[in-house]
Amino acid sequence: MQIVQQEIEREVAYSTEGFTLWLTGLSGAGKTTLALALEAQLLARGLRVERLDGDVVREGLTRDLGFSKEDRDKNIERVTFVAKLLSRNGVAVIASFISPYREARARARRETTNFIEVFVNAPLATCAARDVKGMYAKAFAGQIKDFTGVNDPYEEPESPEVVVYTDRETVAESAAKILNYLETRALIPVAQSA
Ligand code: ADX
Repeated sequence: MQIVQQEIEREVAYSTEGFTLWLTGLSGAGKTTLALALEAQLLARGLRVERLDGDVVREGLTRDLGFSKEDRDKNIERVTFVAKLLSRNGVAVIASFISPYREARARARRETTNFIEVFVNAPLATCAARDVKGMYAKAFAGQIKDFTGVNDPYEEPESPEVVVYTDRETVAESAAKILNYLETRALIPVAQSA
């Protein structure tokens, strides 16, 4: 009986509200990698999770959009709308988009539930050296005219809830930082030690 009671207390020791974990940063900074690690950890803690990722969303919901400021704003506006619906219904949303413009992120903050901005910070040189998709090489060669960080702006977050430095932290370390933050906000249950 005692054990059952403890289990119940553990269950209710965190809010069952949804939240919107918003990962912003340059292409190649590690947003998707981190989002996948976070998704696995949140699922393991029993949460309902939905991951919204730039590359995936742009193949479906925002296939019609390019990379002008206007189109990037529309991209983020639509994603914000989806994140709003999910997060207000108790879902843990992990959104990973370059989202280079402060105002678009501010709007996502205003419109979604428990918005948490995570700056996935890596120097441009590191992202370009990784060049996972070969796009930096093209951008530096002038073949892509509006590539974020090269010839298009990235407005760094001014007061993000969490900053992770993917050039000097492991994925596990960066994920742990974010999970700790969510624990302190009582948005997720504390991990049970084995
Ligand atoms: S955002 O600026 O509108 O937030 P989003 O995160 O959806 O961008 O998409 C970024 C992805 O699109 C990059 O990871 C990259 O693979 C691809 N991409 C293609 N063209 C560009 C470009 N001009 N600038 C940045 N990313 C681009």
